Amino acid sequence: MKKIEDLRSYRWFHGTELVEFRHNSRLKQMGYSKADFAGKPIIGIVNTWSDLSPCHQHFRQRAEDVKRGVLQAGGFPVELPAMALTETYMKPSPMIYRNLLSMEVEELLRSQPIDGAVLMGGCDKTTPGLLMGAFSMDIPAIFVPAGPMLRGAWGGKILGSGTDQIKYTEERRAGTITDEELEEIENGIARSPGVCMTMGTASTMTSLAETLGLSLPGAASIPAVDSNHPRMASDSGRRIVDMVFEDLKPSSILTEKSFENAMIASMALGGSTNAIIHLIAMAGRIGLKLTLDQFDAISSRTPMLANIRPSGEYLMEDFYYAGGLKALLNQLDELLNLDAICVSGMTLGEQIKGAKVFDDKVIRSLDNPVEKAGSTVILSGNLAPNGCVLKQAAADKNLLQHKGPAVVFENYADMKARLDDEDLEVRAESVLVLKSAGPKGAPGMPEWGSLPIPKKILRQGVRDMVRISDSRMSGTAFGACILHVSPESHAGGPLALVQNGDIIELDTANRKLTLHVDDEELEKRREALPPPEVYYKRGYGLLYSENVTQADQGCDFPFLAHGPNTPDPRIYG
Ligand code: FES
Repeated sequence: MKKIEDLRSYRWFHGTELVEFRHNSRLKQMGYSKADFAGKPIIGIVNTWSDLSPCHQHFRQRAEDVKRGVLQAGGFPVELPAMALTETYMKPSPMIYRNLLSMEVEELLRSQPIDGAVLMGGCDKTTPGLLMGAFSMDIPAIFVPAGPMLRGAWGGKILGSGTDQIKYTEERRAGTITDEELEEIENGIARSPGVCMTMGTASTMTSLAETLGLSLPGAASIPAVDSNHPRMASDSGRRIVDMVFEDLKPSSILTEKSFENAMIASMALGGSTNAIIHLIAMAGRIGLKLTLDQFDAISSRTPMLANIRPSGEYLMEDFYYAGGLKALLNQLDELLNLDAICVSGMTLGEQIKGAKVFDDKVIRSLDNPVEKAGSTVILSGNLAPNGCVLKQAAADKNLLQHKGPAVVFENYADMKARLDDEDLEVRAESVLVLKSAGPKGAPGMPEWGSLPIPKKILRQGVRDMVRISDSRMSGTAFGACILHVSPESHAGGPLALVQNGDIIELDTANRKLTLHVDDEELEKRREALPPPEVYYKRGYGLLYSENVTQADQGCDFPFLAHGPNTPDPRIYG
């Protein structure tokens, strides 16, 4: 057990030199007495609230709930605002800023007198961004997930975030619903604070944070507006104070086995393909290397049990009432490493023991899974030498073995300009190819990978086609979309060489993606390629483009990966 003199903050406040005088007097300037802070651990509440983050609207109040818990347990809470990474509004994609948030968190915690951290996030990239920063800093930290919003509703139908937004905007393009109906859907699809309530990236990543042992048991499934949510927040505030004295840091919790648990959970949830990139990056921060082959091997032996959209029928609110993540993990206990340690101080096995499923339509059993195995698969071949990803659970099964001619878009603007052109040479069996949408090329690897279906194909009643890109896809999206092609076209990957009419073959059963063009012809095309254009010429955009790794390596910056210990700052003045 640590004593108060062992804590980081002690160095800032204990003593009578100028530096300690300055630190103490400035807390008093804010109205605190010594009784408020002296001899107490300082808990940083890293809050990703913003006026432009609808998913985190409730975080101002939740930060107060966390503070209540910290104060009751004898800590001194301080709130530290951090970038909100709002999925809806940040362009080209908040993905470009995930690494920036991680740097902000690491340095906020390092440069100030913080002994333990409560990380408040949930909207897609906030979870990996906060966690990656906390892993690199490695002080006791607990994650408070934002929780999913309530179900959407329109015209007697239940609506799911993202999934139904894509579905109904496609129907509007096809002319099967009116502008008025689309506006009614807009009014009913997002009814409360909280993250997307499908199994998108947000609920996938908060569930994986809990599986890794970084949130209190059951936290990830609680809807944002349920009264259990503020109770979970204040419990987290109470728990972090004990964790500081126990010195329970991310490095004491995270192991190869806990990451294996997260990969298993991701496949059983039918989780977002984005989780693969984030888990690789998160593991890299503690010196572990996850490979795409590991994901495929785990996928091949893990049944998908969560019947949640976009791969299933229900929503996160139903998942919570059906028993939530604890119940799902308990169904899988024979596959999991149950000895993994969690922030609760218990093992994962102790946390999930006895958790019941209350609705087996929503959380299926091992005997009756949604998919027997392989909800997401890894493909490779001459078009993606370093791999790519397909969420087959959310694709039209008739497209999983497919051969068709390529219709190529050189970038997103080209796709936007020509997709609905009546003269576009495209058939239902064509393979849509989007280039320049990867980590360096876009840059920031936006969620452009679920390319819209061309209008003239929609009118034929077709709702899915094989689509290939070096970009990502929203976890709420669906379709036969082959994503994260690595290396990306901008970095000289073979995707850059595809031309209209080339035959592309998808062989999901054998995990193959093949461009049927001979090597000699590909070499000729490579010689004729123009040099790639750099979009950002200065600032963070340039730093990102010059440093970001490819999707199969997690899109982190190599200089942020696990390395020699970073010392605490010198405190001289
Ligand atoms: Fe925030 Fe989907 S937009 S989680």
